Amino acid sequence: MNDDHSPEDAIPFTARLIAHHRAMETQRENPLIVDPLAERLAGDLSGQLRGHSASRGDYSIVRAHFVENRILGPWCEARDVSQIVIPGAGLDTRAFRFEPLMRGHHTVFELDLSDVIEYKERILEDETPVCHLARVIADLEDRDWVESLVSAGFSEEIPTLWILEGLSYYLEQDTVKSLLKAMSSSSVMGSEIFADVCVPILAEVRFGAFLRHFKWGIEKPEVPAFFREGGWEVSCDYADDHDQGRDVGQRGLMFAFGERA
Ligand SMILES: C[S@@+](CC[C@H](N)C(=O)[O-])C[C@H]1O[C@@H](n2cnc3c(N)ncnc32)[C@H](O)[C@@H]1O
Repeated sequence: MNDDHSPEDAIPFTARLIAHHRAMETQRENPLIVDPLAERLAGDLSGQLRGHSASRGDYSIVRAHFVENRILGPWCEARDVSQIVIPGAGLDTRAFRFEPLMRGHHTVFELDLSDVIEYKERILEDETPVCHLARVIADLEDRDWVESLVSAGFSEEIPTLWILEGLSYYLEQDTVKSLLKAMSSSSVMGSEIFADVCVPILAEVRFGAFLRHFKWGIEKPEVPAFFREGGWEVSCDYADDHDQGRDVGQRGLMFAFGERA
């Protein structure tokens, strides 16, 4: 038996796989996302990728492109001062590479479990963020996460964009309900949200690198009411409607985006 563990073994495979997809995208001729740090963060996945299909991860790339071009870019351009909170940030690198964050005074808060935060701090220790960056160790299943965020400098008076990317369906549905309410009650009017969600059948598949971990889903017509109950007024599109010509599956994953109710 091989007892050798590398530090990245403590990082969720899904987070590393998304970074690996960004690294592959960066090498394409006309990339939708360019992320020079992704390869380093993903680490060597060759062992884990054995047995998985050689997917290019089009869905996570299309989602990142949508978040950057339709949500985060316009958000930064419309405000001099703002907060961007990324619960379950994983190996997200926007604080180091996303140019609109350089304009004005934007603070990115990355929330994740301790292994992920400590790994990122180590791998990116020589890199300089393009905006103010606060990393917050927090378990989103635990109600204390808002206190940890406030201790890291989060202000309930500053407009906030919440980005829940590749997160909602990995948590229990009740946890997501609590999260939405806590986020809403910590946000001034004018704050916004992005979250991707999946339809119920996708959460039943239990197969493949990502789907095997999906816990719940919701039909598209029910999405606005689900978010309204959590204090958010959202629209919802299928990812297919923003696919940039890539294969994102068919009417399985959705982008919900809107503002504090
Ligand atoms: C699939 S990854 C997505 C990462 C990132 N948002 C992206 O799109 O690249 C999900 C992330 O959520 C984090 N996560 C899952 N459950 C969590 C919890 N209870 N508290 C904090 N983070 C959690 C995982 O550690 C992981 O980094």
